[in-house]
Amino acid sequence: LDLILPLMALGYLSGSWLGALTVCRLAGVGDPRLAGSCNPGFSNVLRLHGRRLALATLLVDAVKGMPVLGLAMLLALPPWAQGLVGLAVLLGHSYPAWHRFRGGKAVASAFGVMLVLTPGVALVCATLWVLLAWRMRTAAIASLASAAAAPLASLWLAPDYVIVVIGFTLLVLVRHVLNIQRLGRGDEPGL
Ligand code: G3P
Repeated sequence: LDLILPLMALGYLSGSWLGALTVCRLAGVGDPRLAGSCNPGFSNVLRLHGRRLALATLLVDAVKGMPVLGLAMLLALPPWAQGLVGLAVLLGHSYPAWHRFRGGKAVASAFGVMLVLTPGVALVCATLWVLLAWRMRTAAIASLASAAAAPLASLWLAPDYVIVVIGFTLLVLVRHVLNIQRLGRGDEPGL
């Protein structure tokens, strides 16, 4: 516990660095929280400002949690404790204290966290995401399906982390409530 709490605090801090805001500010383009889906994340930056800035956003959001998770693994924390550190990164991303707790939907950050903890699961989910986003032209469908597939992929590829991955999935689902409502009404914006 002596190690877990400080690592979770570090995780929360690194998670709350929102890639979309830094990238858009540096590029001198509009705040992604004010247009499109108003989500500070890869998909909305893609929608608003194109591929280059979207990929930069994805890179920051995926990479930001890696150092602290690498540390958690190096210190040989058990899987559940590594999972708590990963969850702290995602909570930082979705509920960042210095942005009035309004952050993103934790898809790219969950990908980065899983790339460290459960690389096979991360790659399965990323492949599914790209295929679905390309076929359906809707980011939220790709994200929801990948989030739903993650625990199954984990059961197969990283059974010790199933509970952890279920935790990530639940957070991503909660963050997509508005998307789910829009999908139900048929007015979810495309990519
Ligand atoms: O990756 C986030 C995506 O699932 C939804 O984002 O901007 O389409 O609401 P957005």
